[in-house]
Amino acid sequence: MQNDQLIYMDYSATTPVDDRVIEAMLPYWKEGWGNPSSSHQFGQTAKMGLENARRTIANLLGASPAEIVFTGSGSEADNLALRGVMRAAGQSGRGNHLIISAIEHEAIHKTALQLADQPEYELTILPVDEFGLVDPQKLKQAIRPETVLVSIMAANNEIGTQQPFIELGQICKEQNVLFHTDAVQAAQYIDWNLDEMPIDLLSLAPHKFYGPKGVGILYIRNGTPIVSTMTGGGQENGQRAGTSNVPFAVGAAKALELVSTEREASNLKLINLRDKLIRGILDSFSADEVRLTGHPERRLPHHASFAFRNLPGGDLVMHLDLLGIASSSGSACSSGNPIPSPVLQAVGLDATWNAGGMRFTLGKHSTASDVDYLIDQLPAAIESLKQFSTIVYG
Ligand SMILES: Cc1ncc(COP(=O)(O)O)c(C=O)c1O
Repeated sequence: MQNDQLIYMDYSATTPVDDRVIEAMLPYWKEGWGNPSSSHQFGQTAKMGLENARRTIANLLGASPAEIVFTGSGSEADNLALRGVMRAAGQSGRGNHLIISAIEHEAIHKTALQLADQPEYELTILPVDEFGLVDPQKLKQAIRPETVLVSIMAANNEIGTQQPFIELGQICKEQNVLFHTDAVQAAQYIDWNLDEMPIDLLSLAPHKFYGPKGVGILYIRNGTPIVSTMTGGGQENGQRAGTSNVPFAVGAAKALELVSTEREASNLKLINLRDKLIRGILDSFSADEVRLTGHPERRLPHHASFAFRNLPGGDLVMHLDLLGIASSSGSACSSGNPIPSPVLQAVGLDATWNAGGMRFTLGKHSTASDVDYLIDQLPAAIESLKQFSTIVYG
């Protein structure tokens, strides 16, 4: 996608819905539109669609259908995991301590902070190293007798680092602590076999893998103590009230099926493009101007992220947009007033770097010529942005 078309390099923000997903969803708007909780034929047709979708997702994740809960988003799945598990533990007096990492998405971070605002809960935020990795030894040391839940993301949205989540989950299992991982960014790159993995709860968001927005998935291992945070009709095994959104559940299942069958070839293609992009950008600037953020190897196949020194990432995103390239900056920014990225701060980047985060994320429509175009345009874009900043802000 380039030249007279726009180049999309923001697949970590969201992805276009695959045509095959749209086709799978259509019948559940046109014919199977009944309420799956109704006992008549309209309802039962819809229910069949919903339960087939649940079964497909369960099979693909190595889980059983009763362990799959449809939510309204990845954020809602994260909220249910943290609030539902901590509340259940509080009610049964099993403990009150929650552990997260310093680079969790806001859906985890803000939820954990809100829980910790209440006197009955305690929170530990684990630091990460310069690559964004959680140290398993530090997790071991942080676990206390009253620890209920550890929530550490499978991979980070901003810097692409993949955590050693199996090792971290194993530590939790040995200590009899529940382990949740936010896999919203990682879902399509990993061959999940949750039956065998030390993971009790897992969050997914289908719009990150060519499925619809407005639906999320929370895997809850059988027997995990959790209470619903939403009251009402008791849908989704009592975990989420509200009439089920059958077309979105069907779309979520189709999207997961497609990325699962296409995973191997897709990962290889993306890794090649990603490495070309990383090499091209690092070769275009000095080490004093740009650095790779996140782990050099343990990173998501589609994810290239950088910090530019003394450059507001938000401004560069706007500048690249004018050149037809859609990218993302980790830091919130209003022109001339860059706000540091908490993730870049957590990996130890100082004020000269931590507002200059940039993320280029690739996907199935990305091509080598997209990457060439970015590498070709970026030096001049940065040069003109620097001159503009000097003129406007002094
Ligand atoms: C790691 C991670 N967790 C959770 C979310 C929230 O997902 P959603 O926006 O679909 O609710 C995102 C969104 O970007 C994410 O990257």
